[in-house]
Amino acid sequence: MRGALVVAALAGVALMGTPAAQAQTKKEAPLELKADASARPWKRYNGWPARDYSKFNTLGKLATAPAPKEPRKLAGIAVTGDVANGAKLVADRTRGGSCLACHVMGQAGNADLPGNVAPDLSEIGNAGREDEWLFNYVYDARVYNPETVMPPWGSHGFFTDAEISDIVAFLKTLKKPAVFRTVLDNPEKRPPPVEKRENLDPIENPGMWAVDKAQELWTQKSASGFSCNTCHSDPKTQFKAWAASMPKWEPRLDKVLGVEEFVTRHAKATTGVDWLMETDENRAMSVYLHFLANGEAIKVDTESAGAKAAIARGAELSKRKIGQLNLACTDCHGIAANKWIRGQWLGEPKGQYDHFPTWRTSLLAIWDIRQRFQWCSVNIRGDELPPDAKEYGDLELYLASQNDGLKLSVPGIRH
Ligand code: HEC
Ligand code: HEC
Ligand code: HEC
Repeated sequence: MRGALVVAALAGVALMGTPAAQAQTKKEAPLELKADASARPWKRYNGWPARDYSKFNTLGKLATAPAPKEPRKLAGIAVTGDVANGAKLVADRTRGGSCLACHVMGQAGNADLPGNVAPDLSEIGNAGREDEWLFNYVYDARVYNPETVMPPWGSHGFFTDAEISDIVAFLKTLKKPAVFRTVLDNPEKRPPPVEKRENLDPIENPGMWAVDKAQELWTQKSASGFSCNTCHSDPKTQFKAWAASMPKWEPRLDKVLGVEEFVTRHAKATTGVDWLMETDENRAMSVYLHFLANGEAIKVDTESAGAKAAIARGAELSKRKIGQLNLACTDCHGIAANKWIRGQWLGEPKGQYDHFPTWRTSLLAIWDIRQRFQWCSVNIRGDELPPDAKEYGDLELYLASQNDGLKLSVPGIRH
């Protein structure tokens, strides 16, 4: 049976779009247009921090309390904190990641792979800073620098006033350049990671299981007797470039549609199976559809009115401060790109998209791009959105447009 006949037969199930759309030369892919494409209510993945960050901005809503307008007055009283406790607190990774994630702080940084997102504070004790300045910079640096990348440690509840006094007391003791035990401890000398593994070699990249799994799924008949193969018997030819054009603005859904959400909605509308986003079937099929387009240069629609508006929204969202740490995507992947945040090298947007979905060697799992967006949100202590959220679509199209011209290489392989 040819595809067109099957679709006609399925017309009751498959939503065929408007008459105007049908009149176009290229037929639109049937999509389920009503149901959500991921689990509702969305539940955070097992093993991820279970904290509730609802008091803070997400990419979906604004909730963070406004920044204080004025520095707090310490009325000229010198800070008399506990230096030893301050030294402990600056390295405490349970309090939002620790100061050493961004700053070298003399001896405190040693053996802890300090980062270089921010100035080296090893000699801040010689800089003649007022106690009030140091206290407020740590409490909420926005009173001095509205554009700061420093999280508001006091006003967002990471440290109490007394703890910040201890930190200030410690900072004032820092008067000598850091001495690093090894080159690797020095973020200025630490060599950037280079990914050299052969990602399409199944021995090196266990993520290649997804390609095999998807090929099985391709011909597996659903309860209604259809498989992908019923309508697409030669996917290697038919889809040899498709994934490189994704994501795209989808007027029928009034949102940007990525490959994974397409798979959910198209499968539901054609074969009838439920391959919700972030399930194994969905990930496998997404890997496969990308894999078929490997070597193709990413080229997404940036010109249609819908795409333009989505890209503009994505650019705005990437600058939104979110979470308890009050960081924006661009803080780490723009301002601080190509630096170390503790032991992790911060990539810039170009090069962050062409290998997704990717195998994560540290987790033994495949992550699609939406799961990466979710983790970067949770990691800065902000609630994630469901993977099919419209905001992630905007962000994904913006990111894909920044990767224009790079060749797909999927499944990628990353730490
Ligand atoms: C996400 C990165 C980041 C983290 C984590 C961070 N800082 Fe900062 N910090 C910065 C940046 C960037 C600056 C430079 C000025 C600016 O952007 O506001 C800065 C500036 C400062 C200053 C002002 C230095 C001066 O010259 O007066 C102090 C003090 C400071 N940080 C202390 C801390 C302490 C203490 C912690 C941990 C509680 C910490 N920082 C954690 C990014 C960070
Ligand atoms: C009942 C027929 C039918 C079945 C079954 C079917 N499709 Fe499709 N598919 C279509 C039609 C019609 C189109 C749009 C015209 C075209 O590109 O062939 C399409 C398009 C596509 C496209 C390109 C989308 C675009 O925007 O151009 C992909 C990728 C795709 N299908 C994958 C699948 C996968 C994966 C399955 C199995 C889950 C599947 N299809 C099952 C009919 C079907
Ligand atoms: C606190 C810093 C920080 C913030 C803020 C942040 N990320 Fe990340 N992000 C990382 C780190 C660390 C990695 C892993 C190292 C790398 O690949 O850059 C990463 C990785 C990524 C990757 C995968 C890169 C790759 O090559 O595989 C993407 C995509 C990404 N982030 C997107 C975002 C988006 C979108 C936001 C905003 C919602 C965001 N990040 C916010 C730190 C951050």
